[in-house]
Amino acid sequence: MDVSGKNVIITGGASGIGAALARKMGEAGARVVVADLDGAAAVTLAEEIGGLGLACDVTQEADIQAVVAATEDRFGQVDIFVSNAGLGRGEPSHAASADNAVWQLQWDVHVMSHVFAARAVLPGMIARGDGYLVNMASAAGLLSQIGDAAYTATKHAAVAFAESLAIGHFDDGVKVSVICPQYVATPLIGLSAEDAANTPALRTPEQVAQSVMQGIAEERFMILPHAEVAQFEQLRATDRDRWLHGMRGLRAKALRDLGGLKLDQFYKLM
Ligand SMILES: NC(=O)c1ccc[n+]([C@@H]2O[C@H](COP(=O)([O-])OP(=O)(O)OC[C@H]3O[C@@H](n4cnc5c(N)ncnc54)[C@H](O)[C@@H]3O)[C@@H](O)[C@H]2O)c1
Repeated sequence: MDVSGKNVIITGGASGIGAALARKMGEAGARVVVADLDGAAAVTLAEEIGGLGLACDVTQEADIQAVVAATEDRFGQVDIFVSNAGLGRGEPSHAASADNAVWQLQWDVHVMSHVFAARAVLPGMIARGDGYLVNMASAAGLLSQIGDAAYTATKHAAVAFAESLAIGHFDDGVKVSVICPQYVATPLIGLSAEDAANTPALRTPEQVAQSVMQGIAEERFMILPHAEVAQFEQLRATDRDRWLHGMRGLRAKALRDLGGLKLDQFYKLM
């Protein structure tokens, strides 16, 4: 899809990958609505790119409906909805040790927000025979994030929901992409763009945003900013026991060489 002249909502758009994508979309001639839990940061970025900034908690269906209504009021129909908001919490000890509130929050932010967005805009897209849903998952949604079972499980669910959308609504003219990056230097993993310099395993938010722009232009379902993830996924599908053996080795290496399962250090093992 050519994004020029299109109306685009980006959740979690005030920071990291979402902010980089908002800027790229703006440069490409889209009208961008930046929706974020941090409403002040959303407004600041929207002013920079000539868009609309709104406070929004994506776990609240009414907030997503309000963002869609405000977009329609200001710009008209929603052409592209990018469900990007996300967070990582890690786990205190064993794989089931994160408390119920953490599991619920990740389920709500990583999965239900995508459901709420689709519910709000799909009927209009189906009626027009056109529209685009872009859902942020993670390489953890195809593989696994060692040390964060809730993140991994909910990102797998996000990929599965995107597949359901892509299967169910291609014939309605609705395009769907799912984004599955590995490590990206953003506040979510406690890294800055400087950390990504000369570090091949780390992408900057701008590099990921560029991959997303290309994926949307090509209307490709699977957007992999780290191309090697395709090979890892293939290995996992071909021989699950061998893949698990490799992941156990990676976990042991992290404990030995990094002194723990540290999200801001994992890229050093890639
Ligand atoms: N950084 C990585 O290594 C990485 C890798 C793969 C996938 N991702 C995914 O990319 C997406 C963006 O993350 P990022 O790395 O840019 O992190 P980030 O922390 O820079 O940005 C996340 C944004 O989401 C917003 N947000 C969080 N909860 C929200 C809520 N309930 N409602 C509305 N907004 C909310 C935050 O305020 C923040 O602005 C996430 O879904 C994340 O899981 C990140």
